[in-house]
Amino acid sequence: MLNTSFTRLVGCEVPIQLAGMPMIASPQLAAAVSNAGGLGMVGGARLTPEALGQLLDSVSDLTARPFGVNFIMQFHENPACVEVAAAKARVVEFFYAAPRADLVNLAHRGGALVSWQVGSRDEAVAAEQAGCDFIIAQGVEAGGHVRGRIGLLPLLGEVLDAVTCPVVAAGGIGTARAFAAVLAAGAAGARLGTRFVAAAESGAHPQYVEKLLAASAADTVYTEAFSVMWPNAPHRVLRSCVAAAEAVEDEVVGHLTVFGQTIPLLRFSVPAPSRATSGHIEAMAMYAGESVSAVTRVEPAADIVREMVGGAEALLRSSTV
Ligand SMILES: Cc1cc2nc3c(=O)[nH]c(=O)nc-3n(C[C@H](O)[C@H](O)[C@H](O)COP(=O)(O)O)c2cc1C
Repeated sequence: MLNTSFTRLVGCEVPIQLAGMPMIASPQLAAAVSNAGGLGMVGGARLTPEALGQLLDSVSDLTARPFGVNFIMQFHENPACVEVAAAKARVVEFFYAAPRADLVNLAHRGGALVSWQVGSRDEAVAAEQAGCDFIIAQGVEAGGHVRGRIGLLPLLGEVLDAVTCPVVAAGGIGTARAFAAVLAAGAAGARLGTRFVAAAESGAHPQYVEKLLAASAADTVYTEAFSVMWPNAPHRVLRSCVAAAEAVEDEVVGHLTVFGQTIPLLRFSVPAPSRATSGHIEAMAMYAGESVSAVTRVEPAADIVREMVGGAEALLRSSTV
């Protein structure tokens, strides 16, 4: 029943996409979502081509199903990374800049499908014109960096009316009800970030997960507070981490160890607290969408996928509208 233009294009079984969240969407989490029938993703930001290749190989070791890799344009400096991504992943995806045909063509030449997460109707049209195979429409309810300026449903309607390629909906979707709603509105799938941050396979720091479990939608805030490394880029986080960062006096709030290197994390810098992070975890960027109300327990990613799909199927079947 949930066979859509997105599942047919990508070759997955259910129209659920994991957001490619650096350090949080671990190879284990990406593979778990893919093995459950969805599209697992990892984040490719700030990696060398060699490190990206290793990351993608570790996903391939855990799943034979399609998965993808996401690049944030602010941290994308090396076209060789796109070539590595296209050779090793089914989907290469970009976020947070005007869509670029040269990057889309580069990934297509490597054999991958290409998508772009957009926040407006005009950006969706530009992504389709640049040659993207599908688009993610991100509403302002989303966790993480937020391209959308309006609510998901109004945005989704505008985008669906403007493009012909499959459109995946993102932002505030954590329940089967919200999933069924965007499918009923015409989306070809849903992309989830926050709900999967609390999955058992996530790389999120346990204190971050605890805060998500205790929070609801009204505890999130749309802000530019965490702008060190990436200015002028609004994001949605838990309100409590902004207050905690304001209260810390040190300019270095902690450290991140990645690929054998330990780097200091400045106050109000962009990385989310992961298992590789130490220090004032409570004062780091705890990204969370309005979907956080649906984060009520830690559970395997496959259970989240099953619950979303089963619930949406039942709702759509019983709908009398
Ligand atoms: C912790 C976290 C990190 C994220 N990192 C990225 C990223 O690197 N690239 C990207 O395209 N989107 C990123 N996003 C945004 C997601 O792609 C998506 O739009 C969002 O999670 C949807 O809203 P939701 O969190 O309510 O599910 C991130 C979201 C979260 C929660």
